[in-house]
Order: sequence, then C-alpha cells, then structure tokens
Amino acid sequence: MNDTLHYTTNQQGHLTIAGLDAVQLAKDFGTPVVVYDIGLVRERARKFKDTFTKQNVKAQVAYASKAFSSIAIYEVMKEEGLSLDVVSAGELYTAIQAQFPVEKIHFHGNNKSLEELIMAFDYKIGCIVVDNFYELELVKQLAEERKQDMAILLRVTPGIEAHTHTYITTGQQDSKFGFDLNNGQADDAFKLVAHHPYVQLLGLHCHIGSQIFETQGFVAAAEKLLMKMQNWSELQNYTCTVLNLGGGFGIRYTEEDSPLPPEKYVEEMIKAIQRLSSESAYQMPEIWIEPGRSLVGDAGTTLYTIGSQKVIPDTRHYIAVDGGMSDNIRPALYQARYDARVANRMNAEADQLVTVAGKCCESGDKLIEDISLPPVEAGDILAVFATGAYGYAMASNYNRLTRPAVVFVEDGQAQVVIRRESLADLIRNDLSLYKEESQG
Ligand code: LLP
Repeated sequence: MNDTLHYTTNQQGHLTIAGLDAVQLAKDFGTPVVVYDIGLVRERARKFKDTFTKQNVKAQVAYASKAFSSIAIYEVMKEEGLSLDVVSAGELYTAIQAQFPVEKIHFHGNNKSLEELIMAFDYKIGCIVVDNFYELELVKQLAEERKQDMAILLRVTPGIEAHTHTYITTGQQDSKFGFDLNNGQADDAFKLVAHHPYVQLLGLHCHIGSQIFETQGFVAAAEKLLMKMQNWSELQNYTCTVLNLGGGFGIRYTEEDSPLPPEKYVEEMIKAIQRLSSESAYQMPEIWIEPGRSLVGDAGTTLYTIGSQKVIPDTRHYIAVDGGMSDNIRPALYQARYDARVANRMNAEADQLVTVAGKCCESGDKLIEDISLPPVEAGDILAVFATGAYGYAMASNYNRLTRPAVVFVEDGQAQVVIRRESLADLIRNDLSLYKEESQG
C-alpha cells in the first residue's frame, strides 16, 4: 500500500482538488480554507459499509463526528446510510439540525451531564455508550422515571492499546474512559443493568487508539470483549448482541505512513469474530465500528496564502502562512507531520528546505518543520494535505484569529458549508463594561 500521496495537477501547473483548481478555490473563497473532496468521503464510507454487507454481517458503521462536525458532513453521512457517534450536546444538536435519523445516533463521553442525557432521551437516540457508574445510575433513573426504553453499550477498557504499528497489553489500563474489563468493574456494571425493564444492554464497546496501521490490536480486543460476553451468557444467562470495536483506522499524512485499506480492517475483524464465535458456539454479534479520521482526514486539504519569510543563514528558512495552530493544533500538540505543496507552482522544483510557520504569537506555531518546497513569494498558495480530521474540529480563536471557511467539492461544484468567521463573530458574546446591554 505504499503508493504516493495522491494529488493531481492541471495544465496551468496548479493543484486540483476533486477536479477543481485549488488556486481558483483560494481566490473564490479566500484563505485559509479547508476544502473537502466529498467523493473520497463517500468512497471510504462505502468501503467500510460494503465490506460488511458483502459478507452478510450485521453491522453499523458510525461516523465518529468529533473528527469534523458540521451539518453538511452529517448530511453526507446520512446519505451514505452511516450511523453517527456524538460526544456532546453540541454534536447532538448539530445532528438534529441535520435531521440525522435519531435511531442511528450513538452518544459517547466520559462525563455526560444530566442535561445531555435528558436530551438523548428526549430525542430518543439509538444508543448511549455508558462510560461509568455515575452515568449508569443517571441513565437507569431517567429510564425508570420516564418509563422509557433506552439501549446502551458499556464502554470498557480491555487493557489493549494500539499505537500505529504495534499494540500493547497492559494489566491495569490508566484511562479516564470506560469500565475496566480486568478488575471486576465491567462485571459490576453488568449486574447493575442486565435484565433491566427499560435499559437494554446491547453489548460492549472499546476504542483502542488512533492512527492504527495493523489489525492485531482489534483482533485482540475483540477476543477479550467476546470472552466477557460469553462469560455473562454462561453465568448470568444474558446474551449481548453488539460488539463495538471503536475507530482508529489510520490514514496517510505523509509518505511515511502506510495505512491499510478500510476493507482490510473490516475483513480481519469479521474473520476473527466469526472464528471466536463459532469456537465457543456464541451467537455471532453485530459488529459496530466508529471511524472518524479515516472517513474525512485525507479528504481535507487546507489552502493558505503565504506571506512573510525569514531566512536565518545556516539555520532555518521560515515561510509564514495566514493561519496556523488556530486552525491546526495537531503539529504543536502531537508533533503531527503533514505534507504540503505550493498549489500555484506544482511543476517547480522543490529545492528549498523550509519550515512552514503559522501567524500566531507563539514560537511553537509551526505547521511543518523541514519540508522541501520550491522558492515562494508572498501571495503563493500553500496546500497542506490530510487536514480533514481534528483540524477544523479542534480550531480555536487564539489571538482572535477567525476560523476558516469550509468548502465541499463534489461533481465539479464547490459549495461553502461553514462560513468563514467574521470579526463581528469574534465579539458576538463580548459585553462592554460601559454599554447598557439587554442581557441574553
Ligand atoms: N470512537 C471513540 C470512542 C473515540 O474516542 C474516537 C476518537 C473514535 C471513535 C474515532 O477515532 P479515529 O477513527 O478518528 O481515529 N485529536 C486526536 C484524535 C483523538 C481521537 C479521540 N477519539 C488527533 O488529532 O489525532
């Protein structure tokens, strides 16, 4: 799978995104702008879904919308028949505004408030992924008071953590999420809720990490969760019907990354779960997964305008763009690596080693350290690839920078789906000490 990063260039020597000239897109919509190739999003969604369908395996593919949440992306996922993983009142509200089918919404989070849980009951969402004992009690109380059914999964920490190419099994996992599978917590939670008149325990959930490039970690996790489900079936006469293995499927940020195709992850999961179920004569559960990054990550490209440069002889050559850690915190936060090209000079030789800096007042605001680019000048357009996940979603107004616009490209058409923030937006909630305001 070590093919090179895929991008195309037109006759003007400009980068194209989903067939449209990136330089023109920058002109039309301004910069910074995050441009999504929606055809690629749909292709990924279908690959995940179709692999289950082809093998006749009951499944739900839920888009982990923390990767990028907006009405329009929820509409795309709805059209593709996906389910939706939300983690807050805000994401749930956005889903409702997008008229996402409520029965396909799954609610995650390690500290859901009572108000958020009430919202989940009011909208009659499909499933709450219960994370801890406090929440379990709240869900039970609400279900009993309202005499309302609610399906749940128990999120557990199986003691397996995957890191890109490896996974590790840890005895006691230090995580803020979920019930520990190995120290009796998961069993205690099970006893509190199994056979409840309103709360239907569907099964177990785990999420073993992000940007994972192999399948063994998922298989090991499936094994542990299934064993627990079998155990409850034998000892407690309770059959769980759903096994949710979370997300974490890796994508290519740079040419060093070699992710597996979506179908490979799914095929290996299915194979393992079929084998484990038949070995123990346990009824094959439905398999649920929650891809985020792998649905939207490499479908997104951020276009910036290059401004100032600073050359420190024998040390470093900085080129600065009109965004930075405010629209992509990942390099500063996780030392994440990205690849980029100068969108209006695609055929020029990349013979300069530079560091791409943002415009925030912080030395650590570097988007890419040490990348070879052609010589550039102010006004050139820099395209940073694979920014579609956890970029806009984690954007801030640091230094009172306005959040970029988001544009979807599909079938040769570009459409704004999130407007660029305006300066007025920045002070929308500010109140002056001196003006008499009617308080909202
Ligand atoms: N399901 C659960 C329960 C999760 O916690 C996550 C991600 C996902 C699914 C989706 O994972 P994905 O397929 O996108 O890897 N901000 C970090 C990533 C944090 C991921 C948190 N949970 C980043 O920028 O890399």
